[in-house]
Amino acid sequence: MLDAGGQYCHLIARKVRDLGVYAEVRASETPARELAGARGVIISGGPASVYDPGSPTVDAALFSLGLPVLGICYGQQLMAHALGGQVRRGEKGEYGMAALELDDSSDPLFAGLAGSQQIWMSHFDVVAAAPPGFHVTGRTSTCAIAAMADPNRALYGVQFHPEVVHTTRGKQYLSNFVFRVCGCTEDWDPRHRVPILEREIREAAGSRNVFFFVSGGVDSSVAFALCTRALGPERVRGVYVDTGLMRQGETDWVSRIPGLTVEHAEDRFLGALAGVTDPEQKRHIIGEEFVRVQERIVESRSLLDEHWILGQGTIYPDTIESGGTAKASLIKTHHNRVAGIQALIAAGRIVEPLKSFYKDEVREVGAELGLPAELLERHPFPGPGLAIRCLCSPVNAPVRQTPEGWLIPVKSVGVQGDERSYAPVIAIDSLDHDRAIEIVNRVRGVNRVVAPVETRVPVAHMQVWASELSAARIARLRRADAAVRALSHQSGYDRQVWQFPVILIPLGTAESPDSIVLRPIDSVDGMTARSVPMDPALRSAICAAVLEDPKIAGVFFDLTHKPPGTIEWE
Ligand code: XMP
Repeated sequence: MLDAGGQYCHLIARKVRDLGVYAEVRASETPARELAGARGVIISGGPASVYDPGSPTVDAALFSLGLPVLGICYGQQLMAHALGGQVRRGEKGEYGMAALELDDSSDPLFAGLAGSQQIWMSHFDVVAAAPPGFHVTGRTSTCAIAAMADPNRALYGVQFHPEVVHTTRGKQYLSNFVFRVCGCTEDWDPRHRVPILEREIREAAGSRNVFFFVSGGVDSSVAFALCTRALGPERVRGVYVDTGLMRQGETDWVSRIPGLTVEHAEDRFLGALAGVTDPEQKRHIIGEEFVRVQERIVESRSLLDEHWILGQGTIYPDTIESGGTAKASLIKTHHNRVAGIQALIAAGRIVEPLKSFYKDEVREVGAELGLPAELLERHPFPGPGLAIRCLCSPVNAPVRQTPEGWLIPVKSVGVQGDERSYAPVIAIDSLDHDRAIEIVNRVRGVNRVVAPVETRVPVAHMQVWASELSAARIARLRRADAAVRALSHQSGYDRQVWQFPVILIPLGTAESPDSIVLRPIDSVDGMTARSVPMDPALRSAICAAVLEDPKIAGVFFDLTHKPPGTIEWE
């Protein structure tokens, strides 16, 4: 899988693995000779134009290795550009659903399929002329070369995205490429791998012991359990740092894991965060504090001596520069920056048993280890914890009526056109996702739309209050989060969503200065996300529980997808 900068690159690799075939992500420029051992190559989409200076390229020799190649979106354009076709700069983009008409029903990529197929497009440039040797295999009403092929050289291109769910038969196209064109066989199964992983851990550790920083999340817990099983509990140690920014019950829960000790650092973190309102500053302070605590632990326990190596729960997307979330890698950088840990890494004294696995595969390994579903099904929880879900304001500010709804001057982070935005929110009067999409696309300077579910007073009577990241507000958020989590678990709703942040915003009245925002989303990898509707009974139960706290003025529902709104508000 060659990464040409597309946000869907990992998704494609994962879909191939889901078919039972091992796939690895490499930089698009990887020299062709390094790819010679592969059965086939897929070039991902990406936001660039082949004409942009410095845009991702591939080694042209790739096309003469005799290896099957599938170019997707920008990948198809790169292929056309490299092989003598023509790419035209689009005047306007094409985004969304389209109907693919197949021209060549004998094409192996579309084998077993006929007629019109729903596909999903997201592109600006198009292939205007297929390269010599290619013929068109599919078109849409607006895209004359939606698919092209040169079966003699096993080269295939598609302008649309087979990896996304909106391309109804996408799995079939990928399966056709992998099995029919490349001739792969099913040989990848993330399950039943525990004995192999144990052997790898024993080889990496030799006679040394393994030390972990465990977060309580799925990855580090599974890696820790694997090492414990491979080496025996007496040779594996873990520390969990309680930052005071964790969810209710988290520290108790984690401290039940055998071999783990808890390092209490609540006062240090909350002290350092006092008075802070800016989201980037919050992250920076937390990162720095983490470095200090880790440094102290590494030194005080003599972990630098030759008897210890470091275990980490790094998973596949974390190992790729462009993978995971930018912020997740930021947190990892903080951890890795600790001088003692850097020294261990530099000396190769590190074991990362999960580094070729995706999240869902890690869950399967965990199940094979017999870890409880309660642990494996945990939603992702960000390293900086509740701090990025507790919004602050430097000043008091009124809400303002606009033609779209109430403009609430609480700024939250969003991602618009690949740029980070930091903008206020609009509250509309109904839980209408379509209207929310329309507003956020049309109204400049806004990146989110919420709707009240239940409030003590109308939004018109609320204001934004000057507020900081205090222990009292974190505690308020922690209680609300625990209540929401319990109810969404009881109702089974937590299994319908990928993550469910609960946010505290400083919007309310003098007596009840804060409000809660519910942000349930569905996602594959956190890179994009959709706000998920909730049934009225659960909404009412949540409001009743949250509004038991007299300091909370109302419960709102975040209707925004990502993009333009990020998952976390920060
Ligand atoms: P955003 O807010 O960027 O979040 O849409 C995408 C995913 O990343 C998680 N996230 C983090 N995870 N450390 C982490 O380990 C962080 O600093 C961090 N920030 C965001 C977020 O919860 C979501 O799953």
